[in-house]
Amino acid sequence: MVILGIESSCDETAAALCKNGKIISSIFRSQEIHQQYGGVVPEIASREHDSNINYIVHRALEEGESTFKDIHSIAVTYGPGLFGALLVGLNYAKGLAIGLQIPFMGVNHLEGHLYASIISYPDLQYPYICLLVTGGHTQIWEVKNAGDYILHATTVDDAAGEAFDKGARILGLAYPGGPEIEKVAENGDPFSFPFTMPYIKSHPLNFSFSGLKTAILYKIRDMDTNEKKINIANIAASYQKVIIDTLLDRLKKVIHKTGISRVSITGGVAANRFFRKKADIFMRNYNAQIYFPPLEYCTDNAAMIAMAGYQRLKAGYKSPLYLEPNPNLALDDVIVT
Ligand code: KG4
Ligand code: ZN
Repeated sequence: MVILGIESSCDETAAALCKNGKIISSIFRSQEIHQQYGGVVPEIASREHDSNINYIVHRALEEGESTFKDIHSIAVTYGPGLFGALLVGLNYAKGLAIGLQIPFMGVNHLEGHLYASIISYPDLQYPYICLLVTGGHTQIWEVKNAGDYILHATTVDDAAGEAFDKGARILGLAYPGGPEIEKVAENGDPFSFPFTMPYIKSHPLNFSFSGLKTAILYKIRDMDTNEKKINIANIAASYQKVIIDTLLDRLKKVIHKTGISRVSITGGVAANRFFRKKADIFMRNYNAQIYFPPLEYCTDNAAMIAMAGYQRLKAGYKSPLYLEPNPNLALDDVIVT
């Protein structure tokens, strides 16, 4: 069974092939045009997707040594994301499904992230915990089965990736801030500028990262240029530490609550090497099994969409042709037939 996965929810046009549960190709093109505007411009994103999608799908077929005739079904992101961007991928998928007379499956982008680890660890068994850490989301899910997920924790304000990005901006570092802070922090002492771990008394499992940017601002506001230069590595290392410690603290609590110790950590922040090192220690301390996807599947990609589609199709789901893009799609309102 070959599934074509398509992803176009933001500024990556991506396509991948999943053959009998194995990813045999994964192609993406990032839209660099947005850099000059300092953020993604929705209308430009849609036009770029429109120009690229056919080429990207053909590249994915080529890399997977397949043709359109080999495809059994299509999995496509239909939310959350930018409406116009989603529309391009979804309409392309629908047109192809009609032309090839095959079923298609609308996939929630976040659901794709939940399956990113299974690509490299096909033996990862249900139920497992997924700590999803991107620029827009910081959530802990229990993945019980295909289409059956429980949300245990979420952020009440900024996402962890956003905390990295905002912290980096305050330190005068480039965007995206995560990799920049990681680089600078390598030469710093994570214990030198202790930050208080954010904690919400009424919802002890949830995250709150918005206070940290004020905290970092306070640490550097009275420093002159020279002091900032001397201290930047130590501040970055301490700031990175408190974000990662917070993520692992809530993870520990969810493991304790559910009794499930198989964990997937995914999303852009999962690329952080300090995080991976700390997770390794965590794993030994709490007797958990932690799975990180390779870097290419941490950030947005179509392989995870194809894999989510595979899991759903195996469970007998498919989507109706009237399916529309949903920019605010939640994980529990996937429309299926
Ligand atoms: O999952 P992602 O690529 O895109 C979405 O937000 O959907 O995540 C991007 C986020 C950005 O906030 C970026 O700063 C963060 O992931 N990030 C990192 C690292 N690489 C990317 N954060 C910490 N360390 C990194 N190495
Ligand atoms: Zn994403």
